[in-house]
Amino acid sequence: MTDSVRVIAIDGPSGSGKGTIARRVAAALGYHLLDSGALYRLTAYAAGRQGIALGDTAALADIARNLQIEFGSDAEGNERVLLNGEDVTFNIRTEDAGNGASQVAAQAPVRDALLELQRSFRKAPGLVADGRDMGTHVFVDAELKIYLTASAGERARRRHKQLMDKGIDVSLAALSRDIEDRDRRDTERSVAPLRPAEDARLLDSSGQSIEAVTNTVLDWANTG
Ligand code: C5P
Repeated sequence: MTDSVRVIAIDGPSGSGKGTIARRVAAALGYHLLDSGALYRLTAYAAGRQGIALGDTAALADIARNLQIEFGSDAEGNERVLLNGEDVTFNIRTEDAGNGASQVAAQAPVRDALLELQRSFRKAPGLVADGRDMGTHVFVDAELKIYLTASAGERARRRHKQLMDKGIDVSLAALSRDIEDRDRRDTERSVAPLRPAEDARLLDSSGQSIEAVTNTVLDWANTG
């Protein structure tokens, strides 16, 4: 697949800061943004709403193929995710939705069903794509591929703060276990496992500020 529209792929494990960094880089460059994890979260959430089991691969793939979603912002400029016209921004951010996402994401037909939708985000002047397999599968020809990571402890602490800030109460110990489970499922699954692309640049964000990491990515984006 070749396409002249530039893609910056940012992959990495949960809590590595991908989402925040991808958002900042996209805003600085004026690029579009793909939060691919949201698509898996939406699939799992929609399945729950329809009473479909997370093991029913055929039904899940059907949901994924027919997702009616919109990424937009409200009057105050806050991001909003709509599913069939309903605001599900917060519903899909819970740890439950994340765990559900990781279960549906391990099923190849679901991943296939979301491929085209993900690629449709590639529009001029460019795209910053955040996920687990952006550089290894979805945008293999991305001009810049980054594998962003951080120590497991720091990732759990960041996630904890993020959730508490949103008013979602969860214990750090439970979160650490969830992160470990999710990491294991994501790296050990047979389809599109989480791993750095061969041509990815590794970036460890442990102990670094959001600004510092964003600037490193922008430097790489500007210097190639
Ligand atoms: O990044 P986020 O936490 O929103 O992703 C939720 C889950 O979706 C991940 O744990 C992973 O299992 C799955 N995912 C994936 N491939 C992507 C993005 C997310 O498998 N490109």
